[in-house]
Amino acid sequence: MEQSSLSRVAFFLVVVLIHGCVHYVHADHHGNHPMINSIFSFGNSYADTGNFVKLAAPLLPVIPFNNLPYGETFFGHPTGRASNGRLVVDFIAEAFGVPFVPPYLGQAHNFTHGVNFAVVGATALDLAFFRENNITSVAPFNSSLSVQLEWFKKLKPTLCSTTQECRDYFGRSLFLTGEFGGNDYIFLLAAGKTVDEVMPYVPKVVEAISAGVEAVIQEGARYVVVPGQVPMGCTPIILTLYASPNEADYDAGTGCLKRFNDLVRRHNSALFAAVSLLRGKYPAATIVFADYYRPVIKFLQKPEKFGFSGATKLRACCGGGGPYNYNLTAACGFPGAAGCPQPAAYISWDGIHLTEPVYSQIAACWLQGPYAQPPIMAAVRRR
Ligand SMILES: *[C@@H]1O[C@H](CO)[C@@H](O)[C@H](O)[C@H]1NC(C)=O
Ligand SMILES: *[C@@H]1O[C@H](CO)[C@@H](O)[C@H](O)[C@H]1NC(C)=O
Ligand SMILES: *[C@@H]1O[C@H](CO)[C@@H](O)[C@H](O)[C@H]1NC(C)=O
Ligand SMILES: *[C@@H]1O[C@H](CO)[C@@H](O)[C@H](O)[C@H]1NC(C)=O
Repeated sequence: MEQSSLSRVAFFLVVVLIHGCVHYVHADHHGNHPMINSIFSFGNSYADTGNFVKLAAPLLPVIPFNNLPYGETFFGHPTGRASNGRLVVDFIAEAFGVPFVPPYLGQAHNFTHGVNFAVVGATALDLAFFRENNITSVAPFNSSLSVQLEWFKKLKPTLCSTTQECRDYFGRSLFLTGEFGGNDYIFLLAAGKTVDEVMPYVPKVVEAISAGVEAVIQEGARYVVVPGQVPMGCTPIILTLYASPNEADYDAGTGCLKRFNDLVRRHNSALFAAVSLLRGKYPAATIVFADYYRPVIKFLQKPEKFGFSGATKLRACCGGGGPYNYNLTAACGFPGAAGCPQPAAYISWDGIHLTEPVYSQIAACWLQGPYAQPPIMAAVRRR
């Protein structure tokens, strides 16, 4: 083997070893951007690229995501994203060579390359469900999955008109429906329910997500990515608010609160089963189950291997102090909180959301595997 190809192989191996998954280079060697021309995204703060800051502007005096250090990495200013930089949806857009997916409520009105309906705090279940059940801890924003789907249906006639035109257009579009569910459980927990009391809500939440996936398929989607939830029991907010004196409540390897992760795994396996059923029902569509859980657990088990600091693996980069650097009364973006000098060494950005390098590595693992089933790139080639 020639020296140059050898070093190329070595470089490739280094990339694989550091990141676990290969970063997808968006153009092939002919400069083509194959397969996907537009992205439609639904979800919550893990996918919002600027809707919440518009929706909440008339209602909230201070919106943390409008303040630095949100957005300090890559964009250099706040964009409404709940991270220091790009999100998974941004890295997926880059991989397909399409523009960052513009927020539905934002300035842009040309949605030729797709649109993002995701809103910070969005739930799978409707606001009315929480209100009817006296779950007063729910945020007062009307932005659940079914509301986001209504926005999509309203916009659709401006995107394509004839059945054939829509089929062609959506045949070159990627749909992301999530993550959803995390906020549903957070609001139920915040209403004073125990994890055991929240568990019975899992089938209802998963049913709502499944109905949403079904709705986008019936509107013409052919490639749908359905993300599961992040390990809630590893987030600084949960570790702070639900700290336990009992060592047995914590996982020895990761330091996460086990019961909260049990809830997430219950949700993820129910969602995985729902996705399998939908595949049987809609064989013309390709439905990807995308896993946020396992990659984050891997990063916590061997932080250095993935470029993160072991000493601060459970601490938020941006926060207002305390053992996990999460302080409810001084959360990131509010007075009393500050960012950290090296955000790239952190897994958690603000105690709830993840840092840009985490999202980057997760996106790579969804595009090429192994944390998406099937990997997104394999899904869109299969036609
Ligand atoms: C929207 O943008 C696309 C390219 O990104 C362009 O071809 C199209 O003409 C634009 N549509 C309008 C109405 O400006
Ligand atoms: C939320 O908005 C939808 C319309 O998009 C409406 O039907 C529903 O009643 C609203 N829910 C609440 C609780 O305001
Ligand atoms: C909610 O609270 C109201 C007033 O306290 C009560 O009448 C109603 O039965 C409650 N509903 C549920 C589902 O608990
Ligand atoms: C949390 O923030 C408040 C307000 O800035 C501060 O008074 C308090 O000491 C902080 N708590 C911890 C544990 O750092």
